[in-house]
Amino acid sequence: MKKTDILAFLKEYQPNFVSGEEICRKMGVSRTAVWKHIRALQGEGYLIDAVPRCGYRLVGIPDRLYGQEIAHGLDTEFLGRTVYYYDSIDSTNREARSLASGGAPHGTLVVAEEQTGGKGRQGKGWFSPRGTGIWCSLVLRPGIAPAEASPVTLLAAVAAASAMEKTAGVSPGIKWPNDILADGRKICGILTEMSAEMERVNFLVVGTGINVNIPQESFPAEVRDIATSLRAVKGGEVSRAALLRQYLREFEHYYRVWLDTGFEPVLDEWKKRCVTLDRPVLVKSAGESWEGWAEDVDPGGALVLRLKDGSRRRFLAGEVSLRI
Ligand code: BTN
Repeated sequence: MKKTDILAFLKEYQPNFVSGEEICRKMGVSRTAVWKHIRALQGEGYLIDAVPRCGYRLVGIPDRLYGQEIAHGLDTEFLGRTVYYYDSIDSTNREARSLASGGAPHGTLVVAEEQTGGKGRQGKGWFSPRGTGIWCSLVLRPGIAPAEASPVTLLAAVAAASAMEKTAGVSPGIKWPNDILADGRKICGILTEMSAEMERVNFLVVGTGINVNIPQESFPAEVRDIATSLRAVKGGEVSRAALLRQYLREFEHYYRVWLDTGFEPVLDEWKKRCVTLDRPVLVKSAGESWEGWAEDVDPGGALVLRLKDGSRRRFLAGEVSLRI
């Protein structure tokens, strides 16, 4: 018996008491063992009443992204079925890569309360304060060629936007390729990394940072005007565990659609939320800048820009500024 079994049992009985005797009987352990586990759970922040002659009652769950909290009510088949939880880590992407190199299974989730060296795209950092965001990475082993992998970032953006809509009632926009914006400010970022051979992807690591309950004034000065959080947009706290579960569900759903029927349906969802298309933009890519009309995103996830001379150029990576 593990303490997570006792926790599951207490949840089942919530809001009622369950007697120590019953736990002992059901779990086949001694009262001392039960008490030890209850103490350990209390140490993790669970509020458990212990009342003589009544037993134990769960009255509060901590705002933590413990594996058992994510697993509670999660109906995915492979995503988030293996969870590595860290109180503090440099970067969940770095850790996920190392776990994946060591054989971590498809669908592994790495999540942390805070990151001390969170990585953003293009060598930038990612502000990842304790307990107020979702800082997580997924290990995927899709069995595809490296050239086929870039849609996964767009897929992750659709899944994150969709999860925010369903859980927090905030409908963000997506700026190609993977900036998720609310009120014109960045609320979520995705960093996909790949380990591959010429023909085949070994694994992908999809890192996602969602600014959930960060007060607007807590962002560092250099990003305060360009970043925001769900709490700031919505004006209230959002359950990180519920949001992460929903993200995993949405991700698994769109991932299946992608591999079973192709990328078109996912791309349609992406386009519905896209704020980059049908407008003038500036694209910075590989050290050069290109101005033009953002015409389309093709089935490979590339941005198609119509240049001033009427020619078209495809971008698989880059940074877009919206021109007014
Ligand atoms: C971006 O610059 O838009 C991408 C930001 C990605 C941040 C996430 S937070 C979890 C994961 N671990 C990291 O170090 N980075 C990603």
